[in-house]
Amino acid sequence: MTELSTMILDRIRDVPDYPKPGVLFKDITPLLADPVTMAAVVDELAGLHEVDKIVGIEARGFILAAPVAYRAAAGFVPVRKKGKLPAATLAESYDLEYGSATIEVHSDAFDPGDRVLIVDDVLATGGTAQAAVELVGRAGGTVVGIAVLMELAFLKGRERLNGVQVHSLVIV
Ligand code: PRP
Repeated sequence: MTELSTMILDRIRDVPDYPKPGVLFKDITPLLADPVTMAAVVDELAGLHEVDKIVGIEARGFILAAPVAYRAAAGFVPVRKKGKLPAATLAESYDLEYGSATIEVHSDAFDPGDRVLIVDDVLATGGTAQAAVELVGRAGGTVVGIAVLMELAFLKGRERLNGVQVHSLVIV
């Protein structure tokens, strides 16, 4: 385990039975509140690929993706939940445990051939990340990778992302 992985794991709090009984929630707020760990995380994510745009996924993905974009001297593009973006959008739906969810991106968010890194806090089932990959591709960007703070390996999200490079700073 790297020093950075240890710093991250030490600052993620397990909250039992949130948001519902039986779920062990991974709370990243202690990490966000620690400037040294946060800076190390942002530097690590910003150094992964040469990119034109960093995509952040609402909501917790925004917190990481915006400083990564600044550090990488790249543009920031929000992928938001349905109905939140003001101009023309492309939409992608994916299944949840019960029902489905839809995320959107502005149709003109990318210049043709833009190299794009997708950043989020957690990779769980991979549904969100898979939908984001589809959206970026449809909007004209080229996904060079997906970067997350934490991957929940038992949910096998990585298996849904065939052909996309997945970077996880910690795997639990
Ligand atoms: C969480 C997390 C990822 C996604 C991962 O977001 O921030 O975006 O779920 O799950 P998956 O791999 O199973 O798709 P959530 O939808 O809870 O939104 P939030 O960040 O707004 O709380």
